[in-house]
Amino acid sequence: MMHYISKELTDQHISDLASYYASQPALVNTVSNVTIEASTQTLVTTGDMSRMIISCAACHGAQGEGNGDIFPALAGQSVDYTVRTLKAYRDGSRNNDINATMRNVAKNLTNSEIEQLAHYYAQLGQ
Ligand code: HEC
Repeated sequence: MMHYISKELTDQHISDLASYYASQPALVNTVSNVTIEASTQTLVTTGDMSRMIISCAACHGAQGEGNGDIFPALAGQSVDYTVRTLKAYRDGSRNNDINATMRNVAKNLTNSEIEQLAHYYAQLGQ
């Protein structure tokens, strides 16, 4: 979908759109009241070296606020979007991540971990 939209944009359009969206406040996109398990918190803050999973917070920030120009914000994102995109990294159908950074993280996540992580980041924005 975005391929067809973005191919009509000039570099100037893209630059202007990026500035516009960067200047907007982050909105909360979802409501979640699922209980977050301790093991999910551990994945976020510590990771799981037995499966080579680096902590999410190391790249996405302690509050899911993102980090610089490379690591996107996750806080406040809709649960369904986060679940869908983590599964797409896991099965390789989303493969635009440079150096396969997210495919390497997601390939070792279970379905229930993905669900929990999506609720965790949705709630961070609330
Ligand atoms: C080593 C750094 C790194 C780690 C660790 C990491 N990420 Fe990421 N993540 C990235 C980068 C870089 C991107 C952007 C990739 C792209 O362009 O597709 C990204 C993208 C994402 C996206 C897609 C955001 C969007 O707007 O489409 C989600 C969701 C995500 N990460 C969740 C996680 C979760 C959950 C964890 C922990 C289990 C995690 N990430 C760990 C670097 C990391």
